[in-house]
Amino acid sequence: MRPDIDVSVREVGLRDGIQNISVFMPTADKLAWLAAEADAGMREIEVCSFVPPKVIPQFADAGEVTAHALAIDGLTVAALIPNPKGAERGIAAGVHKLDFVMSVSASHNRANVRRSREESLADFAAIVALIRSLDPPKRPALAGGLSTAFGCTIEGQIQEQDVVRYAVALAESGADEICVADTVGYADPASVRRVFKAVQIAVKPLPVAAHFHDTRGLGLANALAALDSGVTRFDACLAGLGGCPFAPGASGNIVMEDLVFMLEGMGLRTGVDIDRLIAVRAILERSLPGVPLQGAIAKAKLPKDFYARPIAAE
Ligand code: COA
Ligand code: ZN
Repeated sequence: MRPDIDVSVREVGLRDGIQNISVFMPTADKLAWLAAEADAGMREIEVCSFVPPKVIPQFADAGEVTAHALAIDGLTVAALIPNPKGAERGIAAGVHKLDFVMSVSASHNRANVRRSREESLADFAAIVALIRSLDPPKRPALAGGLSTAFGCTIEGQIQEQDVVRYAVALAESGADEICVADTVGYADPASVRRVFKAVQIAVKPLPVAAHFHDTRGLGLANALAALDSGVTRFDACLAGLGGCPFAPGASGNIVMEDLVFMLEGMGLRTGVDIDRLIAVRAILERSLPGVPLQGAIAKAKLPKDFYARPIAAE
């Protein structure tokens, strides 16, 4: 964590945000989006997925988007990967970070990446081996992501001990970070506290990141519960776009602008300028007509003198 930041927020809109949108977002608009967000102070962006274009055509331009993102000074460029082939492509493209994804739900893992969970763990081990075969300066960081950690629209309930078991398996295999995801918006603040505390203890000292969807309206409440449990890394998406195309009923990520508003209002520095962040929505409005943009703070505007308020001491 940089010393000038208390909580790290990571834009996943260029991946999660658009993977469910059937219209291809023009590459130039993706580049404008990521440049504008980096300008607003976003320090980490998941810029694409390295998946077969026939599975998700939206990422047919992954190489070009990644190359452009890598030219932005100071930006950590991450990409989602589902398997070793995705890792090979991400490494060839030069990303700083690979975000591996598997699901705690066996059914969603099968629907999403066509593998059993054990096969996905074997894939993860192969990715670790691939990374370790590189010269140290060329090695990307590797995050182990666990989707459907709070429930699954195909399978229903997910056992908390399974989340811990797969988090430990990814950690022991060589992850640099664990990311726990509520892919379909089934979490509540109590389950968030339980799961994040258990996972953090189990994988210590690895950092544990949180990825929430606001499908049932509890996204920010869940983010706050995770924050209270010691989590300082959060995924979110500009205007709350998002959703997994292989999870029935999935919808948007928590809204980045609202998350930044909550954190900054609490006196926690994100490094992001909210006004400039809100202005980036204009790119989405223009590029994705008909796609509803979410977000309370963009509609209501910041409170008067928001940045001038003294922050009450805890
Ligand atoms: N990128 C590009 N091509 C890939 C690839 C990748 N990451 N992974 C596999 N392929 C290619 C293989 O080389 C093979 O090509 P060939 O037919 O020319 O030989 C072909 O795709 C099939 O490979 P296979 O390993 O059998 O893949 P699969 O058909 O079992 O599909 C996934 C598995 C993981 C590639 C697919 O289910 C997927 O992309 N899932 C990701 C879904 C996603 O992004 N969900 C939302 C995010 S959570
Ligand atoms: Zn997601």
